[in-house]
Amino acid sequence: MEIEVYSQVKNNVKKLLDINLDHYKDEQMRRRLDSWLVRSGTPDWNTYFHRLRGDETERSRFRDYLTINVTALFRDPERWQALREKIIPGLLSDALRLRPANAGLRVWSAGCSIGAEPFSLAILLDELSPARRHFLLATDLDRGVLQKAARRGPFNADETQNLSASQRVTYLENAVPPYYVKPSLAKRVEFREQNLLSDPFPDAMDLILCRNVVIYFTAETKDALYRKFSAALREGGVLFVGATEIISRPQEVGLTGCGISFYRKVSA
Ligand SMILES: C[S@@+](CC[C@H](N)C(=O)[O-])C[C@H]1O[C@@H](n2cnc3c(N)ncnc32)[C@H](O)[C@@H]1O
Repeated sequence: MEIEVYSQVKNNVKKLLDINLDHYKDEQMRRRLDSWLVRSGTPDWNTYFHRLRGDETERSRFRDYLTINVTALFRDPERWQALREKIIPGLLSDALRLRPANAGLRVWSAGCSIGAEPFSLAILLDELSPARRHFLLATDLDRGVLQKAARRGPFNADETQNLSASQRVTYLENAVPPYYVKPSLAKRVEFREQNLLSDPFPDAMDLILCRNVVIYFTAETKDALYRKFSAALREGGVLFVGATEIISRPQEVGLTGCGISFYRKVSA
């Protein structure tokens, strides 16, 4: 796509979907947009945006495509194993020391898509620390995925393949797809609409998951976000990133690596 065309597309995407593509890597996004236009069967962007103005369903499909909301329960299972064995136990003892009256964890899934990630967290915490009352916040900018999360599914076979047999029985409502998580699990998660690039962040979090969200952002936008995640953690709190993501100079944003995909907030 020509640079002038991309600039017009960005303006229209901002106007119609309220997504600022300046934060996303140029080349990758242009390629994605090119293939979307081909798939849409419209000859050019003017025609496509004309159609988009009057078609809410298409707007929502386009938004889903741009924000890329692929997900799964316990995605990258070996990382979740590390979370279970090496990270959560320490956070649970910290919480007892720091907040004895309410020793639940404060956890945030940022860019939670249809809820697979926060529901995985809810399962993990139910297995490791069922008696405590944890605060599980899950946010995304895409209303469509949040609606699906609020309906507790449906999740397909791929999205649930990492659950053990006993987790399926305990936490899923049905034995065959489409799967829904049980209401008793879903009610542990508080879903909110939030744009990471413009809305305020929560604070004093013990654990933040931001996985497979910033990969499409420019280096500057990533840096700014990591700084804000660091500020949203309590000292000793942990940021859990995607399996292919690395923070190149974590100390510059107040973090230090503590295992593959994990960064701990250091004392000021
Ligand atoms: C690939 S999914 C990742 C879902 C989950 N974290 C995982 O790893 O399975 C990326 C999610 O980030 C969300 N997202 C993208 N840009 C965002 C932004 N600026 N603010 C909030 N969420 C965003 C998308 O809507 C999408 O649901």
